[in-house]
Amino acid sequence: MAEGKPIISLRNVTKDFETRSGTIRALDNISIDIVQGETYGIIGLSGAGKSTLVRCINLLETPTEGRVVFNGESLTGLSRKELNLRRREIAMIFQQFNLLMQRTALQNVCFPLEIAGVKKEEAARRGKELLKRVGLEDRVDSYPAQLSGGQKQRVGIARALASNPKVLLCDEATSALDPKTTRSILELLKDINKEFGITIVIITHEMSVIQYACDRVAIIEAGEIAEEGSVDEIFTRPKTKAAKRLVFPDQEKTDGIVGENLIRLVFDGGASYEPVIANMVIKSGAPVNIMYASIQNVEGVNKGQMILELSNIKKQSEIQLEYLNEQKIAYEEIGEVK
Ligand SMILES: Nc1ncnc2c1ncn2[C@@H]1O[C@H](COP(=O)(O)OP(=O)(O)OP(=O)(O)O)[C@@H](O)[C@H]1O
Ligand SMILES: [Mg+2]
Repeated sequence: MAEGKPIISLRNVTKDFETRSGTIRALDNISIDIVQGETYGIIGLSGAGKSTLVRCINLLETPTEGRVVFNGESLTGLSRKELNLRRREIAMIFQQFNLLMQRTALQNVCFPLEIAGVKKEEAARRGKELLKRVGLEDRVDSYPAQLSGGQKQRVGIARALASNPKVLLCDEATSALDPKTTRSILELLKDINKEFGITIVIITHEMSVIQYACDRVAIIEAGEIAEEGSVDEIFTRPKTKAAKRLVFPDQEKTDGIVGENLIRLVFDGGASYEPVIANMVIKSGAPVNIMYASIQNVEGVNKGQMILELSNIKKQSEIQLEYLNEQKIAYEEIGEVK
């Protein structure tokens, strides 16, 4: 469990959908704490229950069972009116941006302010300020159709910030964008998190998004949380099958690699693989076999995995593992090391 005050706590949240063909359990007994000021990722494959989970956080969906606590107060059980007031503090952005096409960027941003009863001039002043903050001061009068995907999402973010939320929920907010634009939007979200202290919840199916933007992550699979922890932790030592599938998407390729003395090394940017292998060999005086390697150099750091066959002489394989321990390089034994 992370330190700090939880801003959102889900307690044993279950969500069933009744359909003609029966009941679908989209969420199954989910309990998580999202800490104030953090960026929290929720990742899972399509259909895992991610959208249902965010929609339960702001009660767009009512959980079938369980409680949603926001800032110390239980949201489940509030009246419609009370709930609507709290909801202003939990903003959301979407994959398809959900802008009003007949309104300009500025009018889109002002919309929630006007609904909240803010005077027109005041709303316009604040709207312009927000559009400036997201880098669109020169596009206030553009219609959504005149904006790129990244610009539309910036309008979405400005609109979300209009109500001074404590939490910003992002449901696949970058999934319709190319990698470069994704980066710039994640950068903006990180800045907003730091600058305004807004807690950010990022829903995605892309591990790179989590890696780039989140402090902690929960992995959801078939409506259940399979694993939760710091992003560093889960990237270097994924424990569950669900986590391993996401961290090593090419896991299937290595499933066939079996045998004794095999270890999987995980490079998370802390070490470079070339000297690691060379040093293992030099220190132990014995070769290691590279059975599989998939290392990517992302902005100058090595990320990926490698499967090594260690020496079959115990004394030598011990020295090889000792070296990895000394260097604090994550590994797991996938075949018995003798
Ligand atoms: N309104 C609904 N009625 C019936 N079933 C639903 C409804 N909404 C979601 N489901 C079902 O609940 C499960 C979880 O869906 P959800 O949309 O939360 O998944 P997701 O992880 O967001 O997927 P994606 O990555 O494709 O967006 C799926 O089996 C889905 O079919
Ligand atoms: Mg979804």
